[in-house]
Amino acid sequence: TILILDFGSQYSHLITRRCREHHVYAELMPCTTRLKDIDFKPKGIILSGSPYSVYDKDSPHVDPAVFDLGIPILGICYGLQEIAWNLKGKVSPCEHREYGFAQIQIKKVDGAAASVDALFEGLGDEMQVWMSHGDQLSELPPDFHVIGHTQSAPYAAIAHNSKPLYGIQFHPEVTHSPRGKELIGKFILSICGCRKNWTMEEFIGKEIARIREICGPKGRVIGAVSGGVDSTVAAKLMHEAIGDRFHAIMVDNGVLRLNEAKQVNEMLNKDLGVKLTVVDASDLFLSRLEGVEDPEQKRKIIGNTFINVFEEEALKIEAAADEEEKRGAAAKGRVEWLLQGTLYPDVIESISFKGPSATIKTHHNVGGLLKDMKLKLIEPLRELFKDEVRVLGRLLSIPAPLVGRHPFPGPGLAIRILGPVTRDQVKILQHADSIYIEEIRKAGLYDQIAQAFAVLLPVKAVGVMGDQRTYEQVIALRAVQSEDFMTADWYVFPAEVLRRMSSRITNEVAGINRVTYDISSKPPATVEWL
Ligand code: XMP
Repeated sequence: TILILDFGSQYSHLITRRCREHHVYAELMPCTTRLKDIDFKPKGIILSGSPYSVYDKDSPHVDPAVFDLGIPILGICYGLQEIAWNLKGKVSPCEHREYGFAQIQIKKVDGAAASVDALFEGLGDEMQVWMSHGDQLSELPPDFHVIGHTQSAPYAAIAHNSKPLYGIQFHPEVTHSPRGKELIGKFILSICGCRKNWTMEEFIGKEIARIREICGPKGRVIGAVSGGVDSTVAAKLMHEAIGDRFHAIMVDNGVLRLNEAKQVNEMLNKDLGVKLTVVDASDLFLSRLEGVEDPEQKRKIIGNTFINVFEEEALKIEAAADEEEKRGAAAKGRVEWLLQGTLYPDVIESISFKGPSATIKTHHNVGGLLKDMKLKLIEPLRELFKDEVRVLGRLLSIPAPLVGRHPFPGPGLAIRILGPVTRDQVKILQHADSIYIEEIRKAGLYDQIAQAFAVLLPVKAVGVMGDQRTYEQVIALRAVQSEDFMTADWYVFPAEVLRRMSSRITNEVAGINRVTYDISSKPPATVEWL
């Protein structure tokens, strides 16, 4: 395992990803973590970047004990400065904050020091890298030497003369440093000597064993599924581990995509063998949403109603389990656990060393519910990133179209109907959205797009159909490319694909006479309109 200590850089989680792409397990922890609190023995440590300056009064610092461990340490950006700060080098503010591409000249050192310069081995004499810093090293710490410099940074990369301690000013974890991933590979594989044993096959075996152990021979688990990748994969994994002692509940909130509840039911129940109850609560949701336009209010109502419905169903399942237990024969124990599809980014978000960040939108999550039922949480995906979940899904034989599905927000179409949500508006949007997605699939573009959906605008426009004047609503189409949805670019469709989509939607969807295409990126827009 590689321990990554997070000083709050926006790139910290990318370091974790790059390690795992080399099949080395890496765990991100806050920089304030004390060594005595870690229950594993890392083979190497990476110190991340940070928005702080090492000299700030309240800037974060690493447990100095890490330097006595004798294991390799790589400091990235602030991490480099943190090494210098601890080992008596000097860090000063740059005259101009450096942000962007730089060319690093790699310096070969002969003699004794050469053996510890393994970081750049095989990477050539020069490398393009990405810089983003306001401070830089201005004096080497004792017993360190330079292994790379750029035009503006004489100490862009440094190494200790005899110990495996390295510091680099640039960010190898971002894709703008094209050979950065190789460099991280050098550090974790050659220098730290990690084995490439982080594979999904191993993960499945270990996780199933872990679930069986926690649940014991009788324990039951319930969980909500949405038809999305995460909850489906988590449900299938639970099913593999404990069979029909796992019970999935899908709540139809009336703002799902066309035929979604039916399709999810068929797939989970029939194809994957997971025991599933679909609860049609659309009336309740839609009545609570009546007349509501404010997006945060919509989210809140849907989140709360979901909890009410889910809790009620969970109680029924628990009561049925009690009955069964009383009858004795097929006793399977109580419902003790609640499955959550928490992913690693959520975990990182909650442990990350960051100041409070502004809430742009409250993304509803199932977390924190069922307090009275005293269920314990089971989170089999908590170590995984989204693309790892997809790999896992494929290995668990979940059909490919589902594994590659675009994400769909919990509050569903309610945040894509910009005005008040009614059954009629839901129907119009479901229909337009299904045509849109069908055309994307037909054009073979679905997998190139991170997320695509239709939005129903609360405005009416004039049109003409036959000889008749029409006065109907407008649909906006949205498609984005994105790695992590923190930033996104609008997708450039071929004109004929857009033409077909528009013509089909205006012809086939009653109530729509105009289609627009959203050409905003995030930022300054967001992916969803609400
Ligand atoms: P934004 O609109 O914030 O979206 O740029 C980024 C990603 O988050 C999804 N999203 C949500 N997911 N509940 C969810 O479960 C929500 O309330 C919510 N709002 C946005 C959005 O679909 C995109 O993938």
